[in-house]
Amino acid sequence: MNSAERLSPLLESVRSEHRPLQEMVRGMGDLLASPGPNPAWHVLFDQLKTCVADLREHLAAHFAREESGGFLEHATTELPRLASEATALEKEHPDLLREFDKFLELTSSIEPSEAEYHRLAIEFRRVAKLLLTHEVAENRLLQQGFNEDLGLDD
Ligand SMILES: [Fe+2]
Ligand SMILES: [Fe+2]
Repeated sequence: MNSAERLSPLLESVRSEHRPLQEMVRGMGDLLASPGPNPAWHVLFDQLKTCVADLREHLAAHFAREESGGFLEHATTELPRLASEATALEKEHPDLLREFDKFLELTSSIEPSEAEYHRLAIEFRRVAKLLLTHEVAENRLLQQGFNEDLGLDD
């Protein structure tokens, strides 16, 4: 089996890992894009807390899978040229989890109100951007390795 044949299922598994994560981030973004008319702030904040907690839990499991037997481990062994970038991306995981921990703490500690809702929306856009930048870099890394092994970048 050549490298491209080995990488193809890996590429698919990364896509299937990243898709639900993007949907969860989008779902949170939607909740924070507009509170709708006459929102019940307590209800909305409870919903937000549940979503952030789910996202944080999903993220921790996703990072663990990438690190152990997953895409980053494969990238470092199968694609030695990209090993240092894969290692650098892996090192971002603890910081990203800390950002989401802080966001979860913020969501749980504030009094539901319109002002706090807007504060959460701003903060979420910041942490979501950090996460999505990381995920896009992973997709690009794997795509790059895949293309190189197919000879597409030559
Ligand atoms: Fe990652
Ligand atoms: Fe990822």
